[in-house]
Amino acid sequence: QTIKTYTLVTKQLITTQLIQRNAFAHKGTYGHALLIAGNKGKMGAAILAAKACLRSGAGLVTINTNENYFTAVHAALPEAMCIDRSENIDHSIYKSAGIGPGIGVNDESAIVVAATLTQFTKPMVIDADALNIIAANEGWLNNVPAGSIITPHPKEFERLFGKCADDFERIEKVMALSIQYPFTIVLKGHHTMIASKGEAWFNTTGNPGMAKGGSGDVLTGMLSALLAQGYDPLQSALTGVYLHGLAADIAIKNIAQVSMLATDIIDHISDAILSLQ
Ligand code: APR
Ligand code: MG
Repeated sequence: QTIKTYTLVTKQLITTQLIQRNAFAHKGTYGHALLIAGNKGKMGAAILAAKACLRSGAGLVTINTNENYFTAVHAALPEAMCIDRSENIDHSIYKSAGIGPGIGVNDESAIVVAATLTQFTKPMVIDADALNIIAANEGWLNNVPAGSIITPHPKEFERLFGKCADDFERIEKVMALSIQYPFTIVLKGHHTMIASKGEAWFNTTGNPGMAKGGSGDVLTGMLSALLAQGYDPLQSALTGVYLHGLAADIAIKNIAQVSMLATDIIDHISDAILSLQ
């Protein structure tokens, strides 16, 4: 499967082909996103994802985490609701889910990932330790539902799909995997690659200031929000990846790249959206 052609994700693609047809421009229902995220010492990932989710237009966000950490969430983000990991999830109230940021790789998280893959019926973003758990369990990749978006960085990609000699081989592999599997693949990096059903896109926004803890969690929140607003998985991936990098590009106008925090990306999501409208 040689990579025939690919498309650059540009402002033109996003504004002409995507946003006009979607909730961003129309007052559609904003939807309720579920974020299955956070664990002991890693609640920040869940809070960053939830804040990015709200900034990207989700109407409601609920974090599914251990109730010991509810106080941290409510203190940091009063707009987010919480449900405890032990509660049964009423899937009917959610329009999308994001699973992985800060959940940790342990038996309890593996049980949550397995249950979500087989029971959650709405589109979901699978990231971070959820991907590492899937990589560690033979055959779980086949349980990833068609409406999903997986967002591995290169190391997570390697755990899931094996080593690649170089970028070219990795691109070829992503193309082949996007035909073999029904989900959308977002391979994060300097120029993030999005692939679905044998077609490839490369993002044109973003900068090295993003290579810092938390920026991937922010993207998961953004993608969950777009899915919750009715974007389809591919539209969510293209729009979310573009906006994520654009927010960071706006942020570094006043912040040194080395100083940028994931929070700065969140704080500029609104500017990025306004610049597209
Ligand atoms: N240019 C543009 N975008 C970049 C660059 C770069 N040089 N470096 C990273 N990014 C973007 C990626 O495209 C991705 O969207 O920043 C995000 C990083 O995502 P993750 O790797 O998932 O980040 P996170 O999970 O928050 O962890 C932060 O810890 O896991 C390590 O090295 C990993 O950079 C990562 C860091
Ligand atoms: Mg990550």
